[in-house]
Amino acid sequence: MRSSWWRNAVFYQVYVRSFADSNNDGVGDLPGITSRLDYLRSLGVDGLWLTPFYPSPQKDHGYDVADYYGVNPEYGTLDDFARLVEEAHRRGIKLLIDIVPNHTSSRHPWFEAALSGGDDPHRTRYYFVPGRDDAPPNNWQSAFGGPAWTRLDGAPEWYMHLFAPEQPDLNWWNPAVPAEFRKIITYWLDRGADGFRIDVAVSLHKRRDLADRPLVPHRTTGLPTTAPGFEIIDQPEVHDVYRDWRHITGTYEPERVLVGEIFDPGRQSRYIKQDELHMAFAMMDRRWDASAWKQAIDVYRHAVSRSTSLPSWTQSNHDVIRHVTRLGGDGLGRERAKASALLLLGLPGQYFIYQGEELGLEEAFVPPERREDPLYIHTNGRHQGRDGCRVPMPWRQHEPNAGFSTAPPWLPTPAAWDRNAVDAQARSTTSVLSLYRRLLEIRRGLARRLPARMDWAAAPKDCLMYHRGPLSVACNFGHRPLELDQPGRLLIGSTPGVRRSATGLLMPPNSAAWLETRRSAGS
Ligand code: GLC
Ligand code: CA
Repeated sequence: MRSSWWRNAVFYQVYVRSFADSNNDGVGDLPGITSRLDYLRSLGVDGLWLTPFYPSPQKDHGYDVADYYGVNPEYGTLDDFARLVEEAHRRGIKLLIDIVPNHTSSRHPWFEAALSGGDDPHRTRYYFVPGRDDAPPNNWQSAFGGPAWTRLDGAPEWYMHLFAPEQPDLNWWNPAVPAEFRKIITYWLDRGADGFRIDVAVSLHKRRDLADRPLVPHRTTGLPTTAPGFEIIDQPEVHDVYRDWRHITGTYEPERVLVGEIFDPGRQSRYIKQDELHMAFAMMDRRWDASAWKQAIDVYRHAVSRSTSLPSWTQSNHDVIRHVTRLGGDGLGRERAKASALLLLGLPGQYFIYQGEELGLEEAFVPPERREDPLYIHTNGRHQGRDGCRVPMPWRQHEPNAGFSTAPPWLPTPAAWDRNAVDAQARSTTSVLSLYRRLLEIRRGLARRLPARMDWAAAPKDCLMYHRGPLSVACNFGHRPLELDQPGRLLIGSTPGVRRSATGLLMPPNSAAWLETRRSAGS
Protein backbone atom coordinates (compact mmCIF):
# COMPACT_ATOMS: atom_id res chain seq x y z
CA MET A 1 0.00 0.00 0.00
CA ARG A 2 1.32 3.43 -0.96
CA SER A 3 2.11 5.60 2.04
CA SER A 4 0.67 9.04 1.57
CA TRP A 5 1.05 12.04 3.83
CA TRP A 6 -2.71 12.40 4.21
CA ARG A 7 -3.46 8.85 5.34
CA ASN A 8 -4.03 8.95 9.12
CA ALA A 9 -3.34 12.70 9.18
CA VAL A 10 -4.93 14.94 11.81
CA PHE A 11 -6.52 17.99 10.23
CA TYR A 12 -7.74 21.14 11.95
CA GLN A 13 -10.64 23.12 10.53
CA VAL A 14 -10.08 26.85 10.73
CA TYR A 15 -13.24 28.91 10.50
CA VAL A 16 -11.39 31.92 9.13
CA ARG A 17 -13.77 34.60 10.35
CA SER A 18 -13.49 33.38 13.93
CA PHE A 19 -10.00 32.01 14.41
CA ALA A 20 -7.59 34.90 15.01
CA ASP A 21 -7.85 38.63 14.39
CA SER A 22 -4.53 40.34 13.57
CA ASN A 23 -5.78 43.92 13.21
CA ASN A 24 -8.40 44.15 15.95
CA ASP A 25 -11.42 44.80 13.78
CA GLY A 26 -13.43 41.98 15.35
CA VAL A 27 -13.07 39.65 12.38
CA GLY A 28 -10.54 36.83 11.95
CA ASP A 29 -8.10 37.05 9.03
CA LEU A 30 -5.25 35.29 7.23
CA PRO A 31 -2.38 37.06 9.05
CA GLY A 32 -4.15 36.03 12.27
CA ILE A 33 -3.91 32.38 11.22
CA THR A 34 -0.22 32.80 10.34
CA SER A 35 0.40 34.29 13.78
CA ARG A 36 -1.11 31.17 15.38
CA LEU A 37 0.72 28.51 13.40
CA ASP A 38 2.99 27.76 16.33
CA TYR A 39 -0.07 27.08 18.43
CA LEU A 40 -1.29 24.64 15.78
CA ARG A 41 2.11 23.02 15.56
CA SER A 42 2.26 22.59 19.32
CA LEU A 43 -1.18 21.03 19.18
CA GLY A 44 0.31 18.53 16.77
CA VAL A 45 -1.87 18.74 13.68
CA ASP A 46 -0.65 17.73 10.22
CA GLY A 47 -2.88 19.94 8.12
CA LEU A 48 -5.44 22.74 8.12
CA TRP A 49 -8.70 23.16 6.26
CA LEU A 50 -9.49 26.84 5.81
CA THR A 51 -13.13 27.81 5.24
CA PRO A 52 -13.66 30.15 2.24
CA PHE A 53 -11.67 33.38 2.36
CA TYR A 54 -12.58 34.68 -1.12
CA PRO A 55 -14.16 38.06 -1.85
CA SER A 56 -17.78 37.59 -0.87
CA PRO A 57 -20.78 39.63 0.27
CA GLN A 58 -20.82 37.19 3.26
CA LYS A 59 -24.47 36.26 2.86
CA ASP A 60 -23.42 32.74 3.84
CA HIS A 61 -20.09 33.69 5.39
CA GLY A 62 -17.91 33.04 2.41
CA TYR A 63 -19.87 30.17 0.88
CA ASP A 64 -21.17 32.83 -1.52
CA VAL A 65 -18.07 33.51 -3.62
CA ALA A 66 -17.87 36.63 -5.78
CA ASP A 67 -14.31 36.05 -7.03
CA TYR A 68 -12.64 32.64 -6.91
CA TYR A 69 -9.18 34.09 -7.54
CA GLY A 70 -8.83 36.53 -4.68
CA VAL A 71 -8.91 37.13 -0.93
CA ASN A 72 -11.72 39.00 0.82
CA PRO A 73 -10.14 42.37 1.81
CA GLU A 74 -11.48 41.84 5.36
CA TYR A 75 -9.31 38.72 5.55
CA GLY A 76 -6.18 40.03 3.84
CA THR A 77 -4.49 39.82 0.46
CA LEU A 78 -3.03 37.25 -1.90
CA ASP A 79 0.36 38.08 -0.39
CA ASP A 80 -1.02 37.21 3.04
CA PHE A 81 -2.13 33.88 1.59
CA ALA A 82 1.34 33.29 0.16
CA ARG A 83 2.91 33.99 3.56
CA LEU A 84 0.46 31.68 5.28
CA VAL A 85 1.30 28.87 2.86
CA GLU A 86 5.02 29.45 3.26
CA GLU A 87 4.93 29.60 7.05
CA ALA A 88 2.63 26.59 7.32
CA HIS A 89 4.87 24.53 5.04
CA ARG A 90 7.95 25.63 6.97
CA ARG A 91 6.35 24.01 10.02
CA GLY A 92 5.38 20.87 8.12
CA ILE A 93 1.68 21.81 8.12
CA LYS A 94 -0.38 21.19 4.96
CA LEU A 95 -3.07 23.59 3.83
CA LEU A 96 -6.41 22.60 2.33
CA ILE A 97 -8.69 25.32 1.05
CA ASP A 98 -12.43 25.27 0.57
CA ILE A 99 -13.81 25.24 -2.94
CA VAL A 100 -17.45 26.10 -3.62
CA PRO A 101 -18.41 24.71 -7.05
CA ASN A 102 -22.17 24.27 -6.63
CA HIS A 103 -23.08 27.95 -6.63
CA THR A 104 -21.56 31.40 -6.86
CA SER A 105 -22.56 34.58 -5.09
CA SER A 106 -25.25 36.62 -6.79
CA ARG A 107 -22.52 39.28 -6.95
CA HIS A 108 -20.23 37.10 -9.07
CA PRO A 109 -19.56 38.82 -12.43
CA TRP A 110 -21.17 35.87 -14.26
CA PHE A 111 -24.44 36.26 -12.43
CA GLU A 112 -24.39 40.03 -12.72
CA ALA A 113 -23.90 39.62 -16.49
CA ALA A 114 -26.69 37.05 -16.56
CA LEU A 115 -29.04 39.59 -15.06
CA SER A 116 -28.11 42.22 -17.63
CA GLY A 117 -30.54 40.84 -20.23
CA GLY A 118 -32.68 37.86 -21.24
CA ASP A 119 -30.30 36.80 -24.00
CA ASP A 120 -27.02 37.27 -22.16
CA PRO A 121 -25.00 34.05 -22.69
CA HIS A 122 -24.08 33.92 -18.98
CA ARG A 123 -27.66 32.92 -18.21
CA THR A 124 -26.91 29.41 -19.45
CA ARG A 125 -24.20 29.10 -16.80
CA TYR A 126 -26.99 29.11 -14.21
CA TYR A 127 -30.47 27.62 -14.19
CA PHE A 128 -32.87 30.25 -15.52
CA VAL A 129 -36.15 28.46 -16.17
CA PRO A 130 -39.69 29.67 -16.99
CA GLY A 131 -42.17 29.24 -14.15
CA ARG A 132 -45.55 27.57 -14.20
CA ASP A 133 -47.99 30.46 -14.30
CA ASP A 134 -47.03 32.36 -11.17
CA ALA A 135 -45.38 29.38 -9.54
CA PRO A 136 -41.73 28.28 -9.63
CA PRO A 137 -40.63 25.74 -12.28
CA ASN A 138 -40.77 22.84 -9.81
CA ASN A 139 -41.31 21.97 -6.16
CA TRP A 140 -37.67 21.82 -5.09
CA GLN A 141 -36.91 23.45 -1.75
CA SER A 142 -33.92 25.48 -0.62
CA ALA A 143 -31.86 23.98 2.21
CA PHE A 144 -32.40 27.30 4.01
CA GLY A 145 -36.20 27.15 3.68
CA GLY A 146 -38.71 28.12 0.98
CA PRO A 147 -38.62 27.35 -2.74
CA ALA A 148 -35.27 26.76 -4.44
CA TRP A 149 -36.26 29.37 -7.02
CA THR A 150 -36.41 33.16 -7.16
CA ARG A 151 -37.93 35.33 -9.85
CA LEU A 152 -36.59 38.79 -10.45
CA ASP A 153 -38.99 41.67 -11.07
CA GLY A 154 -41.84 39.79 -12.69
CA ALA A 155 -39.49 38.22 -15.30
CA PRO A 156 -40.79 35.02 -16.96
CA GLU A 157 -37.79 33.06 -15.72
CA TRP A 158 -36.80 31.98 -12.25
CA TYR A 159 -33.27 31.06 -11.18
CA MET A 160 -32.35 28.10 -9.01
CA HIS A 161 -30.67 28.27 -5.61
CA LEU A 162 -30.51 25.16 -3.44
CA PHE A 163 -29.24 27.45 -0.67
CA ALA A 164 -29.83 31.20 -0.13
CA PRO A 165 -31.23 33.37 -2.96
CA GLU A 166 -27.81 35.09 -2.96
CA GLN A 167 -26.24 31.72 -3.93
CA PRO A 168 -27.44 30.93 -7.49
CA ASP A 169 -26.65 27.35 -8.58
CA LEU A 170 -24.20 26.93 -11.42
CA ASN A 171 -25.26 24.88 -14.42
CA TRP A 172 -22.57 22.20 -14.65
CA TRP A 173 -24.06 20.89 -17.90
CA ASN A 174 -22.63 24.00 -19.58
CA PRO A 175 -18.97 23.18 -20.45
CA ALA A 176 -17.93 26.75 -19.56
CA VAL A 177 -18.51 25.87 -15.89
CA PRO A 178 -16.19 22.84 -15.59
CA ALA A 179 -13.63 24.69 -17.71
CA GLU A 180 -13.64 27.60 -15.24
CA PHE A 181 -13.24 25.34 -12.21
CA ARG A 182 -10.33 23.56 -13.83
CA LYS A 183 -8.67 26.98 -14.00
CA ILE A 184 -9.60 27.81 -10.42
CA ILE A 185 -8.18 24.67 -8.88
CA THR A 186 -5.01 24.92 -10.93
CA TYR A 187 -4.61 28.52 -9.82
CA TRP A 188 -4.67 27.57 -6.13
CA LEU A 189 -2.57 24.45 -6.55
CA ASP A 190 0.04 26.64 -8.21
CA ARG A 191 -0.13 28.91 -5.16
CA GLY A 192 0.72 26.03 -2.86
CA ALA A 193 -2.65 24.69 -1.71
CA ASP A 194 -2.26 21.03 -0.72
CA GLY A 195 -5.80 20.21 -1.68
CA PHE A 196 -9.44 21.11 -1.40
CA ARG A 197 -12.42 20.53 0.80
CA ILE A 198 -15.23 20.47 -1.74
CA ASP A 199 -18.45 22.13 -0.64
CA VAL A 200 -21.69 20.14 -1.20
CA ALA A 201 -19.64 17.84 -3.36
CA VAL A 202 -22.33 15.63 -4.94
CA SER A 203 -24.68 18.43 -6.00
CA LEU A 204 -22.97 19.87 -9.06
CA HIS A 205 -25.23 18.61 -11.87
CA LYS A 206 -28.99 18.71 -11.27
CA ARG A 207 -31.25 16.16 -12.92
CA ARG A 208 -31.81 17.34 -16.47
CA ASP A 209 -35.59 17.08 -16.52
CA LEU A 210 -35.92 19.30 -13.41
CA ALA A 211 -38.93 17.14 -12.53
CA ASP A 212 -40.97 17.75 -9.39
CA ARG A 213 -39.91 15.68 -6.43
CA PRO A 214 -42.69 13.10 -6.32
CA LEU A 215 -44.58 12.96 -3.05
CA VAL A 216 -45.76 9.54 -1.93
CA PRO A 217 -47.61 8.49 1.23
CA HIS A 218 -45.20 7.63 4.03
CA ARG A 219 -45.06 3.88 4.69
CA THR A 220 -46.28 4.14 8.26
CA THR A 221 -47.83 7.57 8.77
CA GLY A 222 -49.45 7.91 5.33
CA LEU A 223 -48.37 11.57 5.22
CA PRO A 224 -46.95 12.88 1.95
CA THR A 225 -43.19 12.46 1.82
CA THR A 226 -40.48 12.58 -0.89
CA ALA A 227 -40.28 9.33 -2.82
CA PRO A 228 -37.15 7.42 -1.82
CA GLY A 229 -34.53 7.02 -4.53
CA PHE A 230 -35.56 10.15 -6.43
CA GLU A 231 -32.41 12.23 -6.84
CA ILE A 232 -32.31 15.84 -7.91
CA ILE A 233 -28.51 15.90 -7.43
CA ASP A 234 -25.79 13.20 -7.45
CA GLN A 235 -25.97 12.65 -11.22
CA PRO A 236 -23.48 10.28 -12.91
CA GLU A 237 -21.71 13.23 -14.58
CA VAL A 238 -20.50 14.55 -11.19
CA HIS A 239 -18.02 11.67 -11.23
CA ASP A 240 -16.51 12.95 -14.49
CA VAL A 241 -15.69 16.21 -12.73
CA TYR A 242 -13.81 14.50 -9.93
CA ARG A 243 -11.97 12.17 -12.31
CA ASP A 244 -10.83 15.32 -14.08
CA TRP A 245 -9.80 17.05 -10.85
CA ARG A 246 -8.03 13.94 -9.60
CA HIS A 247 -6.10 13.87 -12.84
CA ILE A 248 -5.09 17.51 -12.34
CA THR A 249 -4.04 17.04 -8.71
CA GLY A 250 -2.11 13.94 -9.76
CA THR A 251 0.25 16.08 -11.79
CA TYR A 252 1.51 17.83 -8.61
CA GLU A 253 4.16 16.73 -6.16
CA PRO A 254 3.87 16.20 -3.24
CA GLU A 255 0.45 14.68 -3.50
CA ARG A 256 -2.58 17.01 -3.36
CA VAL A 257 -5.90 15.79 -1.98
CA LEU A 258 -9.63 16.13 -2.57
CA VAL A 259 -11.94 15.93 0.44
CA GLY A 260 -15.63 15.82 -0.38
CA GLU A 261 -18.30 17.25 1.84
CA ILE A 262 -20.14 13.93 1.73
CA PHE A 263 -21.49 12.33 4.88
CA ASP A 264 -23.65 9.55 3.51
CA PRO A 265 -21.65 6.29 3.60
CA GLY A 266 -23.43 4.95 0.48
CA ARG A 267 -22.33 8.01 -1.45
CA GLN A 268 -18.83 7.81 -0.01
CA SER A 269 -18.47 4.35 -1.50
CA ARG A 270 -19.26 5.77 -4.94
CA TYR A 271 -17.09 8.89 -4.79
CA ILE A 272 -14.00 7.80 -2.87
CA LYS A 273 -12.05 6.02 -5.56
CA GLN A 274 -8.49 5.69 -6.79
CA ASP A 275 -9.42 8.09 -9.59
CA GLU A 276 -11.92 10.37 -7.77
CA LEU A 277 -11.97 11.80 -4.24
CA HIS A 278 -9.39 10.87 -1.61
CA MET A 279 -11.69 11.13 1.38
CA ALA A 280 -14.92 12.39 2.92
CA PHE A 281 -16.23 12.97 6.43
CA ALA A 282 -17.26 10.27 8.87
CA MET A 283 -19.46 12.47 11.04
CA MET A 284 -19.96 10.87 14.45
CA ASP A 285 -23.14 12.48 15.68
CA ARG A 286 -24.81 9.53 17.37
CA ARG A 287 -26.25 9.72 20.86
CA TRP A 288 -23.91 8.57 23.63
CA ASP A 289 -24.50 4.85 23.44
CA ALA A 290 -21.95 2.08 22.94
CA SER A 291 -23.87 0.07 20.38
CA ALA A 292 -24.91 3.15 18.36
CA TRP A 293 -21.26 4.25 18.16
CA LYS A 294 -20.04 0.77 17.27
CA GLN A 295 -22.55 0.55 14.48
CA ALA A 296 -21.68 4.00 13.09
CA ILE A 297 -17.96 3.23 13.21
CA ASP A 298 -18.52 -0.02 11.34
CA VAL A 299 -20.70 1.56 8.68
CA TYR A 300 -18.03 4.17 7.90
CA ARG A 301 -15.20 1.65 8.18
CA HIS A 302 -16.78 -0.55 5.54
CA ALA A 303 -17.99 2.21 3.20
CA VAL A 304 -14.70 2.16 1.28
CA SER A 305 -12.05 -0.53 0.99
CA ARG A 306 -9.15 0.34 3.28
CA SER A 307 -6.61 -0.01 0.52
CA THR A 308 -8.30 2.96 -1.19
CA SER A 309 -9.00 5.23 1.73
CA LEU A 310 -9.69 5.33 5.44
CA PRO A 311 -12.52 7.23 7.16
CA SER A 312 -12.03 10.87 8.17
CA TRP A 313 -13.51 10.86 11.66
CA THR A 314 -15.04 14.10 12.79
CA GLN A 315 -17.47 15.26 15.44
CA SER A 316 -18.06 18.95 14.78
CA ASN A 317 -17.79 21.56 12.08
CA HIS A 318 -19.14 25.05 11.34
CA ASP A 319 -22.59 23.67 10.44
CA VAL A 320 -23.48 21.58 13.49
CA ILE A 321 -24.02 22.03 17.23
CA ARG A 322 -20.70 21.57 19.01
CA HIS A 323 -20.38 18.01 20.25
CA VAL A 324 -19.71 18.83 23.92
CA THR A 325 -23.25 20.24 23.90
CA ARG A 326 -24.70 17.38 21.86
CA LEU A 327 -23.20 14.87 24.28
CA GLY A 328 -24.91 16.38 27.30
CA GLY A 329 -23.21 19.73 27.80
CA ASP A 330 -21.20 21.13 30.66
CA GLY A 331 -19.01 18.76 32.72
CA LEU A 332 -20.79 15.63 31.50
CA GLY A 333 -20.61 16.60 27.82
CA ARG A 334 -16.95 17.50 28.22
CA GLU A 335 -16.02 14.16 29.86
CA ARG A 336 -17.79 12.33 27.05
CA ALA A 337 -16.12 14.49 24.40
CA LYS A 338 -12.69 13.72 25.87
CA ALA A 339 -13.53 10.02 25.82
CA SER A 340 -14.84 10.16 22.24
CA ALA A 341 -11.61 11.85 21.14
CA LEU A 342 -9.62 8.88 22.49
CA LEU A 343 -12.04 6.43 20.94
CA LEU A 344 -11.90 7.99 17.46
CA LEU A 345 -8.25 9.07 17.37
CA GLY A 346 -7.16 5.48 17.94
CA LEU A 347 -9.03 4.25 14.88
CA PRO A 348 -7.44 3.84 11.47
CA GLY A 349 -8.12 6.98 9.46
CA GLN A 350 -7.83 10.71 9.45
CA TYR A 351 -9.34 12.94 12.11
CA PHE A 352 -10.72 16.45 11.61
CA ILE A 353 -10.70 18.71 14.67
CA TYR A 354 -13.04 21.70 14.49
CA GLN A 355 -11.44 24.84 15.95
CA GLY A 356 -12.19 25.14 19.66
CA GLU A 357 -12.88 21.43 20.03
CA GLU A 358 -9.41 21.13 21.56
CA LEU A 359 -10.61 23.61 24.21
CA GLY A 360 -13.77 21.63 24.94
CA LEU A 361 -15.92 24.56 23.83
CA GLU A 362 -19.67 24.27 24.01
CA GLU A 363 -22.24 25.67 21.61
CA ALA A 364 -22.55 29.37 22.48
CA PHE A 365 -25.84 31.16 22.95
CA VAL A 366 -26.00 34.01 20.44
CA PRO A 367 -28.76 36.53 21.18
CA PRO A 368 -31.34 36.49 18.36
CA GLU A 369 -30.61 40.09 17.34
CA ARG A 370 -26.93 39.20 16.79
CA ARG A 371 -27.52 36.10 14.66
CA GLU A 372 -26.25 36.27 11.10
CA ASP A 373 -26.71 32.80 9.70
CA PRO A 374 -28.93 32.69 6.56
CA LEU A 375 -30.39 29.48 7.92
CA TYR A 376 -31.78 31.47 10.85
CA ILE A 377 -32.81 34.40 8.68
CA HIS A 378 -34.50 32.47 5.84
CA THR A 379 -36.40 30.14 8.16
CA ASN A 380 -37.72 33.17 10.05
CA GLY A 381 -36.14 31.87 13.20
CA ARG A 382 -37.67 28.38 13.06
CA HIS A 383 -34.10 27.11 12.92
CA GLN A 384 -31.79 28.66 15.51
CA GLY A 385 -29.03 28.78 12.90
CA ARG A 386 -25.36 27.89 13.09
CA ASP A 387 -23.92 31.02 14.71
CA GLY A 388 -23.53 29.24 18.06
CA CYS A 389 -20.70 27.04 16.77
CA ARG A 390 -19.00 29.93 14.94
CA VAL A 391 -18.27 32.24 17.86
CA PRO A 392 -14.62 33.46 17.83
CA MET A 393 -11.86 31.56 19.63
CA PRO A 394 -10.96 32.53 23.21
CA TRP A 395 -7.20 33.08 23.27
CA ARG A 396 -6.40 34.97 26.47
CA GLN A 397 -7.99 35.01 29.86
CA HIS A 398 -8.85 38.30 31.62
CA GLU A 399 -8.85 40.25 28.37
CA PRO A 400 -11.77 41.81 26.52
CA ASN A 401 -13.55 39.26 24.32
CA ALA A 402 -11.31 36.53 25.74
CA GLY A 403 -8.38 37.97 23.80
CA PHE A 404 -9.81 37.46 20.31
CA SER A 405 -9.95 41.16 19.52
CA THR A 406 -9.99 44.50 21.29
CA ALA A 407 -12.96 45.42 19.08
CA PRO A 408 -16.30 43.71 19.63
CA PRO A 409 -16.10 40.42 17.68
CA TRP A 410 -18.57 39.84 14.83
CA LEU A 411 -20.36 37.37 17.12
CA PRO A 412 -20.24 38.08 20.87
CA THR A 413 -17.97 36.04 23.14
CA PRO A 414 -19.87 34.39 26.02
CA ALA A 415 -18.58 35.67 29.38
CA ALA A 416 -17.99 32.11 30.59
CA TRP A 417 -15.46 31.48 27.81
CA ASP A 418 -12.81 33.40 29.67
CA ARG A 419 -11.89 30.29 31.62
CA ASN A 420 -11.69 28.25 28.39
CA ALA A 421 -9.04 30.54 26.91
CA VAL A 422 -6.01 28.95 25.29
CA ASP A 423 -3.48 30.51 27.66
CA ALA A 424 -5.35 29.32 30.74
CA GLN A 425 -5.67 25.79 29.38
CA ALA A 426 -2.04 25.68 28.30
CA ARG A 427 -1.03 26.27 31.96
CA SER A 428 -3.18 23.46 33.29
CA THR A 429 -2.18 19.82 33.03
CA THR A 430 -5.79 18.68 33.36
CA SER A 431 -7.28 20.86 30.62
CA VAL A 432 -8.86 19.56 27.43
CA LEU A 433 -6.09 21.30 25.48
CA SER A 434 -3.38 19.43 27.40
CA LEU A 435 -5.21 16.17 26.79
CA TYR A 436 -5.38 16.80 23.02
CA ARG A 437 -1.70 17.74 22.90
CA ARG A 438 -0.61 14.61 24.72
CA LEU A 439 -2.95 12.42 22.74
CA LEU A 440 -1.69 13.68 19.38
CA GLU A 441 1.88 13.33 20.55
CA ILE A 442 1.36 9.72 21.59
CA ARG A 443 -0.45 9.05 18.33
CA ARG A 444 2.50 10.39 16.34
CA GLY A 445 4.89 8.27 18.35
CA LEU A 446 2.90 5.12 17.60
CA ALA A 447 2.07 5.97 13.98
CA ARG A 448 4.53 3.66 12.30
CA ARG A 449 3.37 0.68 14.31
CA LEU A 450 -0.37 1.15 13.77
CA PRO A 451 -1.86 -0.98 10.99
CA ALA A 452 -4.80 0.10 8.81
CA ARG A 453 -6.79 -2.69 10.38
CA MET A 454 -8.56 -2.77 13.75
CA ASP A 455 -10.55 -5.50 15.47
CA TRP A 456 -13.27 -5.20 18.04
CA ALA A 457 -12.62 -7.08 21.28
CA ALA A 458 -15.13 -8.53 23.71
CA ALA A 459 -16.12 -5.91 26.29
CA PRO A 460 -18.62 -5.56 29.13
CA LYS A 461 -22.01 -3.96 28.52
CA ASP A 462 -21.80 -0.20 27.77
CA CYS A 463 -18.15 -0.53 26.89
CA LEU A 464 -16.37 -0.67 23.54
CA MET A 465 -12.89 -2.02 23.05
CA TYR A 466 -10.72 -2.56 20.00
CA HIS A 467 -7.19 -3.59 19.18
CA ARG A 468 -5.07 -2.05 16.48
CA GLY A 469 -1.60 -3.59 16.42
CA PRO A 470 0.03 -2.74 19.75
CA LEU A 471 -2.71 -0.25 20.67
CA SER A 472 -5.83 -1.20 22.62
CA VAL A 473 -8.56 1.37 23.15
CA ALA A 474 -11.43 1.06 25.62
CA CYS A 475 -14.33 3.42 26.17
CA ASN A 476 -16.87 3.26 28.99
CA PHE A 477 -20.15 4.80 27.80
CA GLY A 478 -22.01 3.75 30.94
CA HIS A 479 -23.05 5.47 34.18
CA ARG A 480 -21.09 3.06 36.34
CA PRO A 481 -17.35 2.66 36.84
CA LEU A 482 -15.86 -0.46 35.26
CA GLU A 483 -12.85 -2.55 36.07
CA LEU A 484 -11.42 -4.13 32.92
CA ASP A 485 -9.21 -7.15 33.02
CA GLN A 486 -6.99 -5.88 30.22
CA PRO A 487 -3.19 -6.16 30.17
CA GLY A 488 -0.92 -3.46 28.81
CA ARG A 489 0.73 -0.22 29.75
CA LEU A 490 -1.67 2.70 30.23
CA LEU A 491 -0.61 5.31 27.67
CA ILE A 492 -3.29 7.87 28.36
CA GLY A 493 -6.71 8.15 29.97
CA SER A 494 -9.35 10.71 29.10
CA THR A 495 -9.62 11.64 32.77
CA PRO A 496 -7.29 11.21 35.79
CA GLY A 497 -9.71 8.62 37.20
CA VAL A 498 -8.58 6.13 34.55
CA ARG A 499 -5.82 4.12 36.21
CA ARG A 500 -4.30 0.77 36.81
CA SER A 501 -5.51 -1.19 39.85
CA ALA A 502 -3.83 -4.28 41.27
CA THR A 503 -5.91 -6.51 39.03
CA GLY A 504 -7.10 -4.43 36.11
CA LEU A 505 -7.90 -1.08 34.64
CA LEU A 506 -10.29 1.28 36.42
CA MET A 507 -12.54 3.23 34.13
CA PRO A 508 -14.90 5.88 35.54
CA PRO A 509 -18.20 6.51 33.74
CA ASN A 510 -17.78 8.35 30.40
CA SER A 511 -14.07 7.72 30.09
CA ALA A 512 -11.66 6.11 27.65
CA ALA A 513 -8.14 4.73 27.73
CA TRP A 514 -5.27 3.88 25.41
CA LEU A 515 -3.13 0.89 26.33
CA GLU A 516 -0.02 -0.46 24.73
CA THR A 517 0.33 -4.22 24.55
CA ARG A 518 3.08 -6.34 23.11
CA ARG A 519 0.81 -7.77 20.41
CA SER A 520 2.43 -7.66 16.96
CA ALA A 521 1.27 -5.14 14.39
CA GLY A 522 -0.77 -7.80 12.57
CA SER A 523 -2.04 -7.45 9.05
C1 GLC B 1 -21.93 23.58 2.99
C2 GLC B 1 -21.24 24.47 4.00
C3 GLC B 1 -22.27 25.35 4.63
C4 GLC B 1 -22.92 26.19 3.57
C5 GLC B 1 -23.49 25.33 2.45
C6 GLC B 1 -23.80 26.14 1.24
O1 GLC B 1 -22.80 22.69 3.58
O2 GLC B 1 -20.54 23.69 4.92
O3 GLC B 1 -21.70 26.17 5.63
O4 GLC B 1 -23.95 26.96 4.12
O5 GLC B 1 -22.56 24.36 2.03
O6 GLC B 1 -22.61 26.56 0.62
CA1 CA C 1 -9.23 41.21 11.34
